[in-house]
Amino acid sequence: MSNATRIDGKAQAESLTAGITDQTAQLKSDHGVTPGLAVVIVGEDPASQVYVRNKGRKAEACGFHSETHILPADVAEEDLLALIDDLNSKESVHGILVQLPLPDHLDEQRITQSISPSKDVDGFHFVNIGKLTAGHTADAFVPCTPAGCMLMIQDALGKDLSGKSAVVVGRSNIVGKPMGALLLAANATVTTCHSRTSDLPGVVRGADIVVAAVGRPNMIKGDWIKPGAVVIDVGINRIDVDGKSKLTGDVDYEAALENASAVTPVPGGVGPMTIAMLMANTLRAAKLSAGLSAG
Ligand code: GUN
Repeated sequence: MSNATRIDGKAQAESLTAGITDQTAQLKSDHGVTPGLAVVIVGEDPASQVYVRNKGRKAEACGFHSETHILPADVAEEDLLALIDDLNSKESVHGILVQLPLPDHLDEQRITQSISPSKDVDGFHFVNIGKLTAGHTADAFVPCTPAGCMLMIQDALGKDLSGKSAVVVGRSNIVGKPMGALLLAANATVTTCHSRTSDLPGVVRGADIVVAAVGRPNMIKGDWIKPGAVVIDVGINRIDVDGKSKLTGDVDYEAALENASAVTPVPGGVGPMTIAMLMANTLRAAKLSAGLSAG
């Protein structure tokens, strides 16, 4: 029998969004400002449609103004840029998110860099990446998934990760790279691994904190996990089990529970925290736009 904790991302996210909802009501009554989130989706990718719908619903539940812009898969890049331009100057919108991935004919970098850094609630603009990398975390919009992972890690281990060894598996711009920067800012000793890393099991075996963000089902084995480690599973992989579609993470969850002190499940771990952090970033953008301290 293992003694590991199943980290309840859903409960942590609910408690976060309850606080955001309260602060939103206060911002409205004290300053007449309603946080606004605009989500843009291009095309009809079913997974993206689900994510975008959930983001809109959560924004409304927090008391935000929420708008969703659905563009056809063959939209011209100039038309998408024109929409972003409108949203950049629209007073009722404080946060803009363009759902990725985009169809191949659109230049993802050109699109993400066209969002005003002060409305970049995804934290993908180079200004925000630069602030995060330079350690100005209090001043940056931090990408939502790694920000949510960090809250769960610090809930388990405390704010200061001095002396802890953290291994991030995956080097994407959305998760792996910003995750490494956040862990470093909290004084962890960070190793970022990827497909060219030799002896991945050996590296993971030295980690007090493991963040898996590779997108390969059950790739991280239970016997790679150091006794007592905290394991955060960012993977959302759809696999077929006995003819039924099932979501699974990048970590062999049941086996990891045998060694770890705490593990996030999939679903119910990182996913809900990502959406909660998007709400937190949008509230923050609204406060900053009103000249208030973002806390
Ligand atoms: N697609 C998958 N994750 C994300 C995310 O965090 N932000 C955006 N914009 N698109 C995504």
